[in-house]
Amino acid sequence: MTDDQQLRVSKIKNGTVIDHIAGGQALNVLAILGIDGGSGDALSVAMNVPSDRLGKKDIVKIEGRELSQAEVDVLSLIAPAASINIVREYDVVEKHRVERPEVVEGVLECPNHNCISTKDEPVESRFAVTDDGVRCEYCETIIRDDLPAHILVE
Ligand code: CTP
Ligand code: ZN
Repeated sequence: MTDDQQLRVSKIKNGTVIDHIAGGQALNVLAILGIDGGSGDALSVAMNVPSDRLGKKDIVKIEGRELSQAEVDVLSLIAPAASINIVREYDVVEKHRVERPEVVEGVLECPNHNCISTKDEPVESRFAVTDDGVRCEYCETIIRDDLPAHILVE
């Protein structure tokens, strides 16, 4: 590629770059993290850009926010190949791959309306992560497809 054909998304100063997100999943990544651009911090989203490893990939750059390990774990549900780069003063100071957590808490809403976690009780949702989806630890309901549709909106 010649230089002026290269995609350029600005480097960030301090924050997190989520790279190698499967093509088309960036908006779901933002939803799962509860990021909607309302904080006023710079946010860059590149979707379906060419990638050697994935064919097409998405990239999210979040200025002014370092993701916690819990947030990173949850990302693995929809972006298993993602790499997380923590940036300070323009340098990548930490780089890690997401890992599939055993349990996700308070992130997904159980589709069973009779489940105690969906009622007016102070019970946080809790799902065990399995090979073929996630399973509610209260009522055993399994969510196999379309996890982003079950993300709890804050
Ligand atoms: N990045 C950024 N702002 C910075 C530093 C890095 O936006 N101040 C971005 C880069 O554009 C890249 C990602 O963070 O998308 C990782 O940066 P780096 O480790 O320098 O790049 P690579 O070595 O290509 O990463 P990898 O090996 O993970 O593909
Ligand atoms: Zn349930």
